[in-house]
Amino acid sequence: MLAFLSSLPLSSKLSHSAFTPCSSNRSMTSAKPRSACTHPVPAVALASPYVPDLDTYTTLYERSITDPDSFWRDIAKSFVWKDNPGNESNEPVLNYSFTPGSAPGVNVSFLPNRKTNICYNAIDRWVEDPVKADAVAFYCEGNDPGRTRVVTFHELHDMVQRFANVLKNQLNVKKGDVVVLYMPMVPELPVAMLACARIGAIHSVVFGGYSAEALAGRILDSKAAVVVVTESVARASKTVKLKEISDHAIRIAAKSGHDVTYQIVTKTPGKLKVSPSAIEIPQDIEWDVALASADPVCPVEWVDSEHPLFVLYTSGSTGKPKGVVHATGGYMVYAATTFKYVFDYHENDVFFSTSDCGWITGHSYVTYGPLLNGATQVLYEGVPNYPTPARLWEIVEKYKVAQLYTAPTVIRALKGAKAPPPTETNPNPSSADWVNKCDRSSLRVLGSVGEPINPEAWLWYYDVVGEQKCAVVDTWWQTETGGHCLTPLPIPGLPIKPGCAMMPFFGIEPALVNGEGQELKGPAEGFLVIKNAWPSTLRTVYRNHKRMEETYFERFPGFYMTGDGARRDADGHYWLTGRVDDILNVSGHRIGTAEVESALVLHDAVAEAAVVGVPHDVKGEALYAYVSLMSGVEPTEELRKSIRACVRTEIGPFASPDTIQWAGALPKTRSGKIMRRILRKIAKNGPKTQRDDLGDTSTLTDPGVIDMLLSTYGK
Ligand code: WTA
Repeated sequence: MLAFLSSLPLSSKLSHSAFTPCSSNRSMTSAKPRSACTHPVPAVALASPYVPDLDTYTTLYERSITDPDSFWRDIAKSFVWKDNPGNESNEPVLNYSFTPGSAPGVNVSFLPNRKTNICYNAIDRWVEDPVKADAVAFYCEGNDPGRTRVVTFHELHDMVQRFANVLKNQLNVKKGDVVVLYMPMVPELPVAMLACARIGAIHSVVFGGYSAEALAGRILDSKAAVVVVTESVARASKTVKLKEISDHAIRIAAKSGHDVTYQIVTKTPGKLKVSPSAIEIPQDIEWDVALASADPVCPVEWVDSEHPLFVLYTSGSTGKPKGVVHATGGYMVYAATTFKYVFDYHENDVFFSTSDCGWITGHSYVTYGPLLNGATQVLYEGVPNYPTPARLWEIVEKYKVAQLYTAPTVIRALKGAKAPPPTETNPNPSSADWVNKCDRSSLRVLGSVGEPINPEAWLWYYDVVGEQKCAVVDTWWQTETGGHCLTPLPIPGLPIKPGCAMMPFFGIEPALVNGEGQELKGPAEGFLVIKNAWPSTLRTVYRNHKRMEETYFERFPGFYMTGDGARRDADGHYWLTGRVDDILNVSGHRIGTAEVESALVLHDAVAEAAVVGVPHDVKGEALYAYVSLMSGVEPTEELRKSIRACVRTEIGPFASPDTIQWAGALPKTRSGKIMRRILRKIAKNGPKTQRDDLGDTSTLTDPGVIDMLLSTYGK
């Protein structure tokens, strides 16, 4: 069932350059020439890897670029399509145009003449085998250790069919309607996603950390008539009352003229039922009650391969978040294929991703990629350091996890955790002891995602967590790409450079361009772009195709612009250098500075605000806000709190600025543009900021603003 590529012929073999191992260099920092240092992927952990050597990778990769149609058509054979078409060699496979404005404009399609259903591919085809039907799909691990639940493929099938019938028959959801899901990491969330897909409805998952205003904005943008919410959830020692937030969002939407017709409420995990007081607005229906009366059989709706599967809102550098839309067939094939190869997933492995389904990682590598491979996985509701920093490693030991996928911010937080108390046998404990006390011998692949991983964190992951026996795969990709684009594969012996996303996945042709859009060759640093389409390229921005063309294709026509910068070293390997636009990455959460600024200026006392990112040891980046107050307003601590509260209300707690500096004025050019470069430097270096470091300041309307900002730093 996992042999997507076994039938592919191997064509030409490429040689690859030599690397220098540097296992003794453990104190490397990013300032040193990092590309000189490599760590070979240990062969011990990978018994029968899908890609056994670099030559095989090169051959497959070359074929995916020179003959993408036959490459993807062969892979598509491993999936179920309506009336499973044979190998029609003249059938269109991957068609695209990356040229905005002109006809046909920007568009991408994958096997557009076919029909499929991703839910069928993720569940039904497995339950046809009675043994596989009883295999575990989810080991659910609650916030509190000891609260667990197991969901088999058969049970998943049952829940999904019933909920699909609830949507269709009780709530009148039709193919193409958007359903909003505002839930924590409980199995009902993937169930609801899959149920939408089963009937051709489009899910829009909203991360449970977003505020009522943010949720309302997403409900309004997609005109969703149905919201699915969980009553409340415990996160570490706090309780988040999701239902209250959602009720509020529904009221906000109603004030803007959009009525949500139904709200389905799932119970607080660990409780027997939804508390009666939570079923309070007329739209409310209890999940359990609705499911109990639903028909247990729901045939799948075969949809066009290009039928939209989901919309996921993500921050842009300007304006409101964009609803990124992915299409069914291409997303299915790409999410499944990347999951299989990047994690080297084999039957009976247990996979564990710590990502929330509110983000793209949870879509592609919790709900879809694993289930499309018939995988067993851990679904974890809680946070990585609760009740202790050993929690993730306890989960790894308990379920014998083979592949762990998490974010650099988590790795850094656990690496820097307070050591356990000393004991007689261990009088000088360190944070590594939280890890060492758990058996991690089942681990083979350690994945990282969401932000650049610094070499120190990479090495801790490799040395301490993986005991130098696991492949570390640093996967670079985006909401828009649907699946991994740049990443090393767990190829035995492949020398991996700590902190380097290394090489393209099959079908991806990365390139670097300069500011004029000219492609740079050889070792270079520039804007990272992708030259071709891959099956899960975003199809559009929901109801705003123009915005999709402007955002990703206008600046460098003919290329997909990622918004990231990258460096290519002499071996041809890619190092991500961070965003080149006004998007920040805080603890792996993508936040637009414009969004936070809009939230700040909603506060009555705020005249103007500018937000920049500053480096942060654990979060990667922290939010630093410069705020000018309305004249006559006194800056006080109370005011800071209430300004922060405004951001929490508008976006969510995770977007609240770490620092608010009172700024009498902001540095602006004569055309009124804020010079963020200056703000970034001052936020980072404070009074130590060197004038020379600020670059050209001659276009500032008021050069005195720099002294003012330096003198108010830290106040
Ligand atoms: C950043 C998350 C460096 C990058 C999957 C990208 C990374 C943005 C990496 C997308 C990585 C993600 N190395 N940077 N391995 N992975 N990023 O849409 O800036 O939430 O553009 O998707 O995260 O964030 P998004």
